[in-house]
Amino acid sequence: MDFDEIFSSLNQFRVSANSFLSRFEPVALVFIPIFTLLFARIVQSIFHVVFQKGLKSAILEFIMTSVKLVPGVKNYIDSEKQKVVDKLQGSGKSKRDGWSTELPMAGLGVEVINKMKDEKQKDVAWQGKCSGTVYIAGNEQEGHFSLINEACSMFAHTNPLHLDVFQSVVRFEAEVVTMTAALLGSKEKASGGQICGNMTSGGTESILLAVKTSRDYMKVKKGITSPEMIIPVSAHSAYDKAAQYFKIKLWRVPVGPDFRADVKAIKRHINRNTILELGELASTYGICLHVDLCLGGFVLPFARKLGYPIPPFDFSVRGVTSISVDVHKYGLAPKGTSVVLYRDHDIRKHQFVAVTEWTGELYVSPTIAGSRPGGLIAGAWAAMMSLGLEGYLENTRKIMEASKRIEKGVRQIPELFIIGRPDMTIVAFGSDVVDIFEVNDIMSSKGWHLNALQRPNSIHICVTLQHVTVTEDFLKDLSDSVKTVKANPGPINGGLAPIYGAAGKMPDRAMVQDLLVDFMDSSC
Ligand SMILES: Cc1ncc(COP(=O)(O)O)c(C=O)c1O
Repeated sequence: MDFDEIFSSLNQFRVSANSFLSRFEPVALVFIPIFTLLFARIVQSIFHVVFQKGLKSAILEFIMTSVKLVPGVKNYIDSEKQKVVDKLQGSGKSKRDGWSTELPMAGLGVEVINKMKDEKQKDVAWQGKCSGTVYIAGNEQEGHFSLINEACSMFAHTNPLHLDVFQSVVRFEAEVVTMTAALLGSKEKASGGQICGNMTSGGTESILLAVKTSRDYMKVKKGITSPEMIIPVSAHSAYDKAAQYFKIKLWRVPVGPDFRADVKAIKRHINRNTILELGELASTYGICLHVDLCLGGFVLPFARKLGYPIPPFDFSVRGVTSISVDVHKYGLAPKGTSVVLYRDHDIRKHQFVAVTEWTGELYVSPTIAGSRPGGLIAGAWAAMMSLGLEGYLENTRKIMEASKRIEKGVRQIPELFIIGRPDMTIVAFGSDVVDIFEVNDIMSSKGWHLNALQRPNSIHICVTLQHVTVTEDFLKDLSDSVKTVKANPGPINGGLAPIYGAAGKMPDRAMVQDLLVDFMDSSC
């Protein structure tokens, strides 16, 4: 077809289109496309919300938003919300009286240390009473605590960002990473011999980095531009944070009746946009698999050596592309230390940020933070080198035995049942007889700080070296608390049971989310 023919066809099309449109009023020709576009935009937004939140939540949110438009309803809901926030805060606000809001005119000098000692004394007693939280045994003035303190203070003013200046901490970081990797399969043939990683500020940063790195790696490897990630409902909320920060669609899939990841349910959510999921499917589908060993990384390798039946969980498993492991938990290092590991350098490269156009310098940084605390890296190195394999084995023996004692003791309290199968050092329990959150409140009144869980309502204790000598006290207090609640059911003064109970049942999850945000907003 030559140019004249094309031109004549186009002309014919123009003439017939104009004759067809001449039947309509010009105003209709202007407004109908505008309204159609608007309608299409609304339909697209509705689909987007339903896709993001699910049909049920989307409908509920629509109803709640409409209800709040009724005059007075929003004010009523806000005032009720404020009451809950105040209760969650306890007397948090009044405690702020007397807090400094400006620099003192004359500095306190060394007297500041005494002031800090006074403040520290007012903290609640956590020794042996907190689920997780403090993992080192004994008291803060001696033993492993003081060794870590000394190591940290010796390197408190160093920063591995300046690698040319602080070679010592650069070496410590590299060694912490390789020693950790060796615990998690890097020396095994199946790992591929390329395991690498970095230290980060904690489990959350390690997970954030692993997710961001997987996203960018999958973009290059598979061209995925609308990334999706699949996790079990029980996975740590750091994944939600990563999904929000890095714009990744998150699928939280239910766990099985044994509270373990449900592989079939995960498989149903895999599609061409999936970048990351938890399960053995990763290698079949050529996608990433992150293993969150933030809590278990410094327990499971030793528990296995001690003969506990621990299934494969590290780089010896084909398909595992990254692992997060916190040194500041069972690694007994100072707070603010974790490691993120990758199967190879090809993946890890996507974690780094290199900037070539800044007038300041040619900049490259491995993690989220720019400057990093060399003191904490030194503290982690000191923890690992001072304990050695034998130290961790002995610690693991103690905490595993304490956990089994607690599990056995809980099973002997007839009103309670154990949730799932505790493989490691977390013992979770619920009840069909008493309100478990009321039991938690009574335990709190006895000085315990346990974790309240939902779906199902339950509490857990994460057993640390702090608990090794107090397992019987814990079990006695727990048994007494259950008896107290059974004899006098109902909330206690200042208890949080009604709030936890209501929050779990509230169908409007956006409202619960609002409550949490308001609580945080008024707490910091
Ligand atoms: C399994 C797991 N993953 C991630 C995290 C987050 O670690 P962090 O609080 O150090 O950021 C935790 C914290 O308890 C955890 O237990």
